Amino acid sequence: MRSSLVSSLFIFVSSVVAWGDVGHRTVGYLAEKYFSDEGKEFVHSLLANENDWDISDAATWADVIKYHRPYSREWHYIDAKDDPPHHCDLQLLRDCPQDGCIISQIVNQTNLVLDTSNSHTTRREALMYIIHFIGDLHQPLHTERMARGGNGIHTCFDHRCSRENLHGIWDTDIVHKLNGLRHSEKHDTLKDAAAKWGRVLFDQAQGQSAQAEECNDVKEPEHCALAWGQEANGLVCSYVMKPGVEWLEKNDLGGEYFEGAAPIVAAQISRAGTRLGAYVNALAAEIAKGTPAIPVAGKRFDL
Ligand SMILES: *[C@@H]1O[C@H](CO)[C@@H](O)[C@H](O)[C@H]1NC(C)=O
Repeated sequence: MRSSLVSSLFIFVSSVVAWGDVGHRTVGYLAEKYFSDEGKEFVHSLLANENDWDISDAATWADVIKYHRPYSREWHYIDAKDDPPHHCDLQLLRDCPQDGCIISQIVNQTNLVLDTSNSHTTRREALMYIIHFIGDLHQPLHTERMARGGNGIHTCFDHRCSRENLHGIWDTDIVHKLNGLRHSEKHDTLKDAAAKWGRVLFDQAQGQSAQAEECNDVKEPEHCALAWGQEANGLVCSYVMKPGVEWLEKNDLGGEYFEGAAPIVAAQISRAGTRLGAYVNALAAEIAKGTPAIPVAGKRFDL
């Protein structure tokens, strides 16, 4: 009952969620291809659901419930107080506020899912948050404060200028154009496109070996998360905001800008999926060891 309600919610809001629906779903589908047997078993034990609900639905869940849990909105990003395009840099203690950011929540949710004394619901939600946040952390504008992560930079994409902003273009428009999708596609079309893109990215990464070198230290989650966030933040200077705000607002970003952005988006989605796969396997391995998670009481970070 509850799960079918959640599934139907996806249908209504799927066209407005961030990294876009397709980006998040692709990260989920790609990660799944890297799961070990232990990883598959762990994910199944927490996420098993009726109907045709799958890992890609788990990947978009945190955006769906964001509207009912306003406190979770700021868990989707970290606002680097830097100065792109001249200077990019992301620092945890400076940029992550006390009430939380994407990196502290990857830490929090990792601890919640590792602690098997927590309820099934808490651990299930923690895994869904992790799947979503590792995706978001690879969207460069989820690591940037300037113009509210680009939301305040109004521009055009393929002659659509009414509500376009730089953040949304990176979440959705580039992903859609890259996959030959129209601006407003149906839920099922987006889901199919994500499954297909996941397969393409997996083949390009040449399969299983790609995950071997990824950071998977689930006992010190901020190490992986900070490194991934800093890499994404670097892209804000090297490409996303490189032409400067004035240029970005005066030009249609569906042309030359899109051509340069498309391979960056594909690389970031590919990294996110590969890393998520490795991370989930490490979570499963850690739980299989049966060692209790370290409590994080009173301490935000362990640097
Ligand atoms: C950790 O996540 C839980 C569940 O989502 C939430 O209730 C709690 O406030 C979070 N803790 C911190 C320190 O953000």
